[in-house]
Amino acid sequence: MTNTVNRRLAFGALAALGLSMSAAPAAAQGELTVYCSVQEEWCRPMMQAFERTTGIKVSMTRKSSGETYAQLKAEAANPRGDIWWGGTGDPHLQAAEENLTEPYQSPALPQLQPWARKQAEQSGFKTVGIYAGALGYSFNTQQLQRRNIAAPKCWADLVKPEFRDEVQVADPNSSGTAYTKVATLVQLMGEDKAFEFMRAMHRNVNQYTRSGAAPARAVATGESLVGITFLHDAVAQAVTGAPVQIVAPCEGTGYEIGSMSIVKGARNMANAKRFYDWALTPEAQAIAIEAKSYQVPSNTASTVPPQSPKLADIKMIDYDFAKYGSSAERTRLLARWDAEVRNAPRR
Ligand code: G6P
Repeated sequence: MTNTVNRRLAFGALAALGLSMSAAPAAAQGELTVYCSVQEEWCRPMMQAFERTTGIKVSMTRKSSGETYAQLKAEAANPRGDIWWGGTGDPHLQAAEENLTEPYQSPALPQLQPWARKQAEQSGFKTVGIYAGALGYSFNTQQLQRRNIAAPKCWADLVKPEFRDEVQVADPNSSGTAYTKVATLVQLMGEDKAFEFMRAMHRNVNQYTRSGAAPARAVATGESLVGITFLHDAVAQAVTGAPVQIVAPCEGTGYEIGSMSIVKGARNMANAKRFYDWALTPEAQAIAIEAKSYQVPSNTASTVPPQSPKLADIKMIDYDFAKYGSSAERTRLLARWDAEVRNAPRR
């Protein structure tokens, strides 16, 4: 009996010793904190694959692009995150301009598409393109038929009275998707006309969601007739058999360069760079397909998922990332949206 107890104590002590001996170097070398701004369904397998490949323990938080930018800014004096993976490029560019992120030139840069490299060059190598995708909207085909409404084709259709309370889109303060919508409409129509349009559309909006892709799910379930999102987010719903049709608006549309940045003052800087290099490989980018994430990947050797909306077939504006990703412009447009659209009357 005594022996057993002693052996247990000895084992316990050794285990405790073993733990504390290995815990110190693990904390110094074996961890990584990732802020993830794509869909949770893609964040999770990506982090698991990195853990499997490197043995580095990842702690991941999913937040929308605008929210993650705000978090980096709030934590600037005492950074908690190491790397920000995914989300629209504009807030990544704003973070770069505000020195919240760290310059890094990955050896993988030459393997990337020109648009992904341009994103890096434009930011002094503080961010890089990891995927691209076009903005648009989707609608629920069954609901549309049931109500006998003609299929919408253009941005202009979304202000029609038959869509009263039937359009869902995210809030551009939290969501990079919705900010892409604001910047796209400004570039398509001119600023004052775009704000007039958004005020008119406000009457039809049933909810400004926090996350950019949420409206695509609401369309799939029939909770909303129309949802403005990136087109690949609506495709992710359609492939599950939901009655969803995607629309690349007739006037033309904008797009995102989904990006990745290293946090300035990252506690696990070496691991952040390891993740960065790995995330740009075709192997890591292929995880998107399993996660039903149909963006166009940035490595030229990556396979473009067959389900991806064909960017070449979409009437696309020449989105000015330098301008709309600048701190002054993004801050100003969001303030104008708050003042003139969110608080506009609904009748
Ligand atoms: C979805 C899309 C991504 C996009 C992201 C932005 O996850 O699939 O392509 O970058 O939304 O998220 P947010 O919530 O900031 O609009």
